[in-house]
Amino acid sequence: MNDQTGFNQWTVPWTTPELPELDAIRAGEITPPEFVITREQVDAYQRDGVLYLEGAFTHWVEPLRAGLERNLENPGAYRFPAESTSKGDAGRFFDSYCNWPLIPEYLDFVIRSEAASLAGQAMNSRMAQLFHEHTFIKEPGTQRATPWHQDIPYYTVSGDQGVSVYIALDDADEDTAVRFVRGSHRWGKIYFPKVFLDGADFNTGEEGYTDTMPDIGGRPADYDIVSKPLKAGDTILFSFKTVHGTTDAEVRKRRRAFSTRWLGDDARYLERQGEASPPFPEPVGMNTGDPMRADWFPVLWRRPGAC
Ligand SMILES: [Fe+2]
Repeated sequence: MNDQTGFNQWTVPWTTPELPELDAIRAGEITPPEFVITREQVDAYQRDGVLYLEGAFTHWVEPLRAGLERNLENPGAYRFPAESTSKGDAGRFFDSYCNWPLIPEYLDFVIRSEAASLAGQAMNSRMAQLFHEHTFIKEPGTQRATPWHQDIPYYTVSGDQGVSVYIALDDADEDTAVRFVRGSHRWGKIYFPKVFLDGADFNTGEEGYTDTMPDIGGRPADYDIVSKPLKAGDTILFSFKTVHGTTDAEVRKRRRAFSTRWLGDDARYLERQGEASPPFPEPVGMNTGDPMRADWFPVLWRRPGAC
C-alpha cells in the first residue's frame, strides 16, 4: 500500500448540494430534534474544550456504520478517500470526508439527528452550520500515531466556536482512543498544522502562526491530558482549537468513527495561503471575513427563540 494515497483529491467534484431535505430545513418543514444537555455540561465544554457524552448517539451507530461501509466498498465514488498506512506496515488507516450529500445515512444524520442541536448549544451559538463530516477507520494491526495538533489551522475558517461531534462506531481501548489536552483551546495559540504521516509542520508561512506544537507526547506530565476507553455510540465534543492526537499503540479491534464539524455565529471564511482541508475549488465565492455561505454549509439548527 502506498504511504498515503488520495490525500485531499476531489475524486468527486464539489457542487452546491441541492437536496429536498435542505429545502425542507430552510422552509422549517424539518426541525432537527433537540439534544438534552445541561448548563453544567455546556460550561464544562466551554472550560475544557472537550466533553465526553457516554452513549449519546448509540441509536445512530448502525446507520452510520452502514454509511461508512459504502465509503469503504467504493472509495473512489466518494470524496477524499485516503489511505495512510505505510508500505509494509500491518493494518489499514482509511479516512474520507465531505460526503454528507452523497451518502444517504450521513445526510439523514446531519438532517435528523440531535447533533446540530448539541453542537449549537455547546458552542453557545444562536445557530449551527454544518462544515462537513469526516469518517475514519483503523483496522486491527494499525500502529499509526496521529501527531498532536489542532484542527483549525487546516480549515478555511476562523472563529472560536467551531466544534466537532465525534462518535465512536466501535468500542476502543483507552490506549488507542483519541486524547485531548484540556483547556488547550484557550491557550491563545494556533500552531502550525502537521503532516499526519511524518509529523512535519506545513503552511508555516501562514499569517499569525509562529510556533510548532510543543512536545506533548514527550512531556505528558506537563499537560492535562484526557483519554478514555470508548463504547460504540459514545460521543466526544471538542473545539477546533483543542489540541489532540493518538499514540502509536497497536489497534487490536476494528475502530471506526464518524465526526461532524459545526460552525457557530463567529465563523468566517479564511483564505489559506497553502493547503487547506477541504481545498474547496475556486472560485469559492467568499472573501476572507465573509460568513460561510449557507448554500454550501447549511444552517441546520437555530436556537429556539433566535431569529
Ligand atoms: Fe484532528
